Amino acid sequence: MCSDRTRARWAELLDFAIDPNSSRPLFQQIHRFLQEAIVAGRLSPGERLPSTRQLADRLGLSRTSTLSAYQQLFTEGYIEARIGSGTFVANDLPKIVGKPDSIENRASGTKRAQPLSTYAAKAAKATSDLYTTEAVPFVTGCCSIDAAGIDAWRRIGVRQLQTMDGRNLRYSDPSGDPELRVEVANYLRAARAVRCDPDHILIVSGAQQGIDLTIRTLIDRGDAVWIEDPGYLPTRAALSAQGAQLVPVPVDREGLVVSTGIERCAEARAAYITPSHQYPTGSVMSLERRLTILDWANRAGSWVVEDDYDSEFRYVGNSLSSLQGMDDNHRVIYIGTLSKVLFPGIRVGFMVVPAELKAAIVATRFLSDRQPATLQQRMVAEFMREGFLTSHIRRMRQRYREARDVLIAVLLEQLDDLIEIEIPEGGIQLSLFFKQDLSDQSISAAAKQQGIYVRALSSLYLEAVSRKGLLLGFSGFEPNALRAAATHLARIIRDHASK
Ligand SMILES: Cc1ncc(COP(=O)(O)O)c(C=O)c1O
Repeated sequence: MCSDRTRARWAELLDFAIDPNSSRPLFQQIHRFLQEAIVAGRLSPGERLPSTRQLADRLGLSRTSTLSAYQQLFTEGYIEARIGSGTFVANDLPKIVGKPDSIENRASGTKRAQPLSTYAAKAAKATSDLYTTEAVPFVTGCCSIDAAGIDAWRRIGVRQLQTMDGRNLRYSDPSGDPELRVEVANYLRAARAVRCDPDHILIVSGAQQGIDLTIRTLIDRGDAVWIEDPGYLPTRAALSAQGAQLVPVPVDREGLVVSTGIERCAEARAAYITPSHQYPTGSVMSLERRLTILDWANRAGSWVVEDDYDSEFRYVGNSLSSLQGMDDNHRVIYIGTLSKVLFPGIRVGFMVVPAELKAAIVATRFLSDRQPATLQQRMVAEFMREGFLTSHIRRMRQRYREARDVLIAVLLEQLDDLIEIEIPEGGIQLSLFFKQDLSDQSISAAAKQQGIYVRALSSLYLEAVSRKGLLLGFSGFEPNALRAAATHLARIIRDHASK
C-alpha cells in the first residue's frame, strides 16, 4: 500500500487542461477532468486529491469552482472526504469505473478504441498458457534458494547499496555494466568454452529478452526460421508475433535433424536451437550435427541462435562445450541466463554476439529498455567475482541430482509398465514418455485440477506428435514434496490408462 503522501504527489502531477475561454463553466471542466481521470484509472481508489483551496490556487481559479466540482463528484460517489485527513478518490467506486469507454458510450458520436497491433494480438494469443507463478511440482524452471545463497545475495546487496554513489544512478552503457561483462566473459570462457571477450557481451534481462532482441534485430515478416519440433514455446510465440515463417525441424537423440532443415528450407534466415540440452527432449546435439549446422549457416549466410539455458547442471562427466565455441565463422548468437543457475527473479542473462551484429542488437535493446538496471548488475558482478556463483552451482548440482534421482525412482517404481524415461544427464527437467497411446493433454489437465503442473509434450509440437508424454521440472522442490507429487501423478496416469 502506498502512503497518503505518495498518493497526494501523484494526484498533483496530473496536468489539468482547463480552458478559461471555453463556453463550458469552469466547475464543469474540473469535474469532467477528475471524473475521466478516475474512470480511466489515472487516479486510483484511495488516492488523495489536493484540497479545494490548493487546487484553486494551482489553477489560478476561484475556490467556488473547485468546491462546486468536488461537491458534484461527492454526490456522484467518485470521491469521499475523511475528516481531518482530506479528500480521496472513493474506495468503493460506482460500477461504471473500470470500463474505459463508459463515458464515451454515454456521449454520442464517439468510437471504440483502435484495435491491438498485429504483433500484440498474436503475442496475446501465443502466450495465453505459457507461464504460471506457482512454485509447485512439477513447474519447470523453479530453483532452490538455500540459506547460503540468499545470505550471500543479501550481504552483497547491502554492501553495494552502501558503496553506491550518483555515478551508479545515471544512464549507463546499454550493453551492460563493464565489470559484469568482464565477469561473464571469464565465466563463459571457462565454463562453456565460449569464445568471447567483454566487448562481445550484452547483459540482458534473462534469456527471453535475448531471444526477443535477436528476433527483432534479424527477422522480418515472412522470413523463414528453423525451430526445433518439439521445442520451446516462448521462442515460437515471439517468432509468430514477429510474423516469421516457422520451419519445424524434427529432433531425435542427436538433437536437431539438420539435414531435414536443409531439405525444408536451405535459405532460412536463422535457426533457433538448444544444442546442449534440447528443450524438451533432453537430447544433446552430436558433434556431427554441430559441424553440419555450422557449415550450413556459413554457406547460407544464416544465423544460428544457441539457447544455452541450463547446461551448467551436468550430472555425468564434464559440462559440454557450447556450439559457439566451435564456430569459426561468427554465425552463432549465444544466449545464456542466470535464471536456472542462480535465481530467475533477478532477471539477468547475457548474449555473446558476433561483432558485426553488436551495434544493431544494442540499438534494438536501447529502444526497448535502454539499459539493464545498475544495482542488479553490480550485485551479480560481485557475486561472480567473489566465487559465490561457482559454489552455488556446486551445491545446486548436488541437490538437483538428488531431486532427479528421487523423482525417477518413484515414477519407475509406480509406472514401469506405462512409461519410459531417458534419464537426463543434465538440466533441471525430464520428459517421461508413454508406452501406450494415452492423451497427455487430458492427463495434464486432470493433474492441474489437482494442483500438479505437468506440461503435455504434444503441446510442444508444431507438426505430427512423435512421442506423447509429460515434461516435469524437478529443481527447487524438496525430495519429500517430489515423492508425494510423483505418487499422486502416478495415480492420475494409471486412472487414465485404465479407462
Ligand atoms: C529453453 C529456454 N530458453 C529460455 C528460457 C528463458 O529463461 P529466462 O528466465 O532467462 O528468460 C527458458 C526458461 O525456462 C527456457 O527453458
